[in-house]
Amino acid sequence: MKPRRRREMNMSKETFYVTTPIYYPSDRLHIGHAYTTTAADSIARFKEMQGYDTMFLTGSDEHGQKIERRAAEAGEEPQQYVDKIVATFLDLWQRLGIEYDQFIRTTDENHQRVVQKIFQKLYDQGDIYLDKYEGWYCTPCESYWQERQVSEEEVCPDCGRPLEWVAEESYFFKMSKYADRLLEHIKEHPDFIQPESRRNEMISFIESGLDDLSVSRTTFDWGIECPVNEDHVIYVWIDALSNYITAMGFLSNEEKFNHYWPADIHLVGKDILRFHTIIWPSILMALELPLPKQVFGHGWLLTETGKMSKSVGNVVDPLELIEDFGRDAIRYFLLREVQFGSDGTYSTEALIQRINSDLANDLGNLLNRTVSMVEQYFSAVVPAPAAELEVDRDLKETARETRERVAEELEGLHFTTALEELWQFVRRCNKYIDQTRPWILGRDENKQERLGTILYNLLAGLRQIAVMLKPFLVDTPEKIGRQIGAQQNIRRADWEDLADWQALRPGSRVDKGEALFPRIDLDEYFQQKQESSRQKEQEEEQEEKKKESGEPDNLISFREFKKLELKIARVVRAERISGSDNLLKLIVDLGQEQRQLVAGLAGHYSEEELQDREIVIVANLEPAEIFGVTSQGMLLAAEDEDGSLALLQPETRVEPGSPIS
Ligand code: ME8
Ligand code: MG
Repeated sequence: MKPRRRREMNMSKETFYVTTPIYYPSDRLHIGHAYTTTAADSIARFKEMQGYDTMFLTGSDEHGQKIERRAAEAGEEPQQYVDKIVATFLDLWQRLGIEYDQFIRTTDENHQRVVQKIFQKLYDQGDIYLDKYEGWYCTPCESYWQERQVSEEEVCPDCGRPLEWVAEESYFFKMSKYADRLLEHIKEHPDFIQPESRRNEMISFIESGLDDLSVSRTTFDWGIECPVNEDHVIYVWIDALSNYITAMGFLSNEEKFNHYWPADIHLVGKDILRFHTIIWPSILMALELPLPKQVFGHGWLLTETGKMSKSVGNVVDPLELIEDFGRDAIRYFLLREVQFGSDGTYSTEALIQRINSDLANDLGNLLNRTVSMVEQYFSAVVPAPAAELEVDRDLKETARETRERVAEELEGLHFTTALEELWQFVRRCNKYIDQTRPWILGRDENKQERLGTILYNLLAGLRQIAVMLKPFLVDTPEKIGRQIGAQQNIRRADWEDLADWQALRPGSRVDKGEALFPRIDLDEYFQQKQESSRQKEQEEEQEEKKKESGEPDNLISFREFKKLELKIARVVRAERISGSDNLLKLIVDLGQEQRQLVAGLAGHYSEEELQDREIVIVANLEPAEIFGVTSQGMLLAAEDEDGSLALLQPETRVEPGSPIS
């Protein structure tokens, strides 16, 4: 897959390798998908700014019975089916500004080949053996349950429907063999499983005893074929988890693999933490590979009503949110609202609240006030700073502390606290305005130097903020940069460049643009949403009815009709078009403007007859070139059987340009 950002491997740099889970090709993308990926993107951008050779991997997990079945239902080949869904993933990542370095698909040829080699190696060394899988199976959920997970009713612990007892031949991976070593590793490396609370959960799970793991299936075909037995396909975990190494060149590009592996962080949801901290390290130990430095299990992002619903105000389709609020607002919310690691609730109210208070108010106002004052007092030219006072030194010192804390918090994946720290500085800058009261200095000719220093410091503070925002947001840093006259500077800035408070050049120009984040009225937003979803429903209903009733399909909807702009126009003059027998060029008055139309009226009306006449025209027709003359609209006329024409005209005279509805 084509990466969004292509970087050369840099052997002289230290590496930072971060991953998200590879996602199942779900036909309904939700905000949970965007959550992990935004976090990974953020930490990758930060490490990139710190000078690491960063590798950010995401991808898709495309095999299994469910996909095979859904493709069949859709009448498609599984590959064709997953290709379409993966395309929607890539689209979402692009819209969210996710700059992964590599996108792995488990259907990639290299991945499949290397997974087979891995299976073969584990088989050859005796870590995989053939046995019988016996257990409870929920056919609708397609999930296997162990005896101890199932109660006497023999129903699925997830859905409550009856379970089936299945027994089939399966290959097993000797996971039990690695339990002791794994436990030791977890205890000796406190950072291996994060956050802390989840670590203890994993330890007790391992201590309660590990079973060997079933790693093949014979009941479906859509998977990687077992290299040792063509009746089996490799079942989920060896296929899926191996992506983190197959994508890095394991057994195919050793130079690359040695450069990036082991991963620094696997980011995963808490639901799959166990697979990443037990199954995955056991496989790696069996392959004699180093373990990832950290697996971080974050919480769930839920909605207030629990289940996501399309009903108004409860939208959790990330594409719709991006469309409505812009990607930076969504990214900010995802990273700021919920402590990474804990469960959290998504609500549109909370999102709008964040946009209004943090983004529009704190940040937007600071920028707006600062740039306005530079325009007002210094004709938009960045002033040079002069002698410093205590309050200036304090502002600078706060900036220094802020960048240290933001870095520290980001290092620990505490996105929320990192942003809190940054916003304290935003508010500190706003307070600096209140303390130094530039609007009073502005009235005094002799205070220009002091005023210049204050405004310079505010611009410098905004530059610090913009650069520190670069790990989190994708458009805003440069938007701030453009307004404070430092777009290039901010685009190129690394974390190190924050050390230079005076990086802004006096003499460059500020340029007040649109508000960074317009305030959003909650009620209005919901009303609009309701209105548009009602409209959509109605249209769908009508569409449905039309189909059922077998009505002619030349009907247009009211909405389509409303698109038509019919207007009264007054003919200013008419002229013949040379080379044509029946075409006239009409210059018409539409009140606000004049237009020219081409119409087939010659032979029916003389030029004089048309002059000053009021006619009806379609005003929003695409312009067309007719006999070398541009026609910007079309007039309406009736034509009877013998070919005579009658122009439509209003019953009484009305203002030219009047709309017809
Ligand atoms: O589990 N809140 O894929 P998947 C937060 N293919 N995160 C959520 C979420 C929510 N509501 N819903 C989903 C798989 N996620 C396997 C992984 S890895 C080798 C194989 C996130 O598409 C969460 O991180 O079902 C979850 O772990 C991930 O989506 C993958 O979900
Ligand atoms: Mg490394």
